Amino acid sequence: MKVNKISIEEEIIRLLKKESHSFLSGQALSKTFGLSRTAIWKYINSIKEMGYSIAASPAKGYRLNLQNLPFTVLEISSNLKTAFIGKNISFYKEIDSTNEAAREFASKGAAEGFAVVADFQKKGKGRLGRRWESPAGVNIYTSIVLRPNIMPVFAPQLTLVAAVAVAETIARFLNNGSGYKPEPAVKWPNDILINSKKVAGILTEMNSEMDRINFVVIGVGVNVNMTKEMFSEGLEFIATSLKQEGGKEISRTAFIQLLYLNMEKWYAQYLKGGFEPVRKAWTSFFHMAGKTVKVQQTGKIMQGIAVGIDNDGALLLREKSGNIARILSGDVEM
Ligand code: BTN
Repeated sequence: MKVNKISIEEEIIRLLKKESHSFLSGQALSKTFGLSRTAIWKYINSIKEMGYSIAASPAKGYRLNLQNLPFTVLEISSNLKTAFIGKNISFYKEIDSTNEAAREFASKGAAEGFAVVADFQKKGKGRLGRRWESPAGVNIYTSIVLRPNIMPVFAPQLTLVAAVAVAETIARFLNNGSGYKPEPAVKWPNDILINSKKVAGILTEMNSEMDRINFVVIGVGVNVNMTKEMFSEGLEFIATSLKQEGGKEISRTAFIQLLYLNMEKWYAQYLKGGFEPVRKAWTSFFHMAGKTVKVQQTGKIMQGIAVGIDNDGALLLREKSGNIARILSGDVEM
């Protein structure tokens, strides 16, 4: 019989989790799995290499530290409540860009909900050709493949669907019961801010024909546990992390699980109920309404009062003349 090494490791992890209140002896493990104690010891080492912290004592055996579980597919999948988003994950310790990888998988037929996750991105991509700072070990970088049966012109609405899911997830993690509860805000079209600093961004890319979408990749970057010092010079004044704002470390595993669940919920709502419920939810996070903003577009800058978004997801800007301009792309500044 072919022994699947990964599945034995998974089984050992499962057992160590169950018994984490005390040490589990090497002898008990070797009996359970019908393996020699040396073989068990080798599996334990390989589990440690996966990032698990395991105390080992020759007299007592092994004990898993549940407080310090690694960010892995196994952990993400073990408590994932979604029906399709993240059910199939390709995970990388490092990668150029999860969006690039997801596009490649999608063009080879990856199903709706397929997700790419990375611990570190060497060439994280932001909007408008910018770079997305993607240090290792602290943040979330994920890209989700969707195959919506909608016209390509509506694809930008999916960015707003994702923004609602991200903002809702962030709000849930910042509400830690301590009394102080910073609120996430959306900045059109797809930035998530806390206290006016950017904490998350969304990059939506599409592959389509004239009248049908082949696939959409929704890339989400969230600064979760990044410290001030990790930002490159100057960026710490305009960007932040959940840890900096909420004051405590957040489990990336728990965050991504809820993010996928919220994504799935809002995506289903959008497909079923259209854009209006999404527009309403997005507006509840839009704190710029009524404020004077500048919109940088290629070649021109427009100024006016932000009114909100319309049924297509375009930003509505009241100009000095009273005219309401519909903005389809650009960068908003206060
Ligand atoms: C922006 O605000 O400019 C969008 C940033 C999007 C960053 C994420 S991180 C995961 C995914 N992979 C990328 O290369 N970019 C997106």
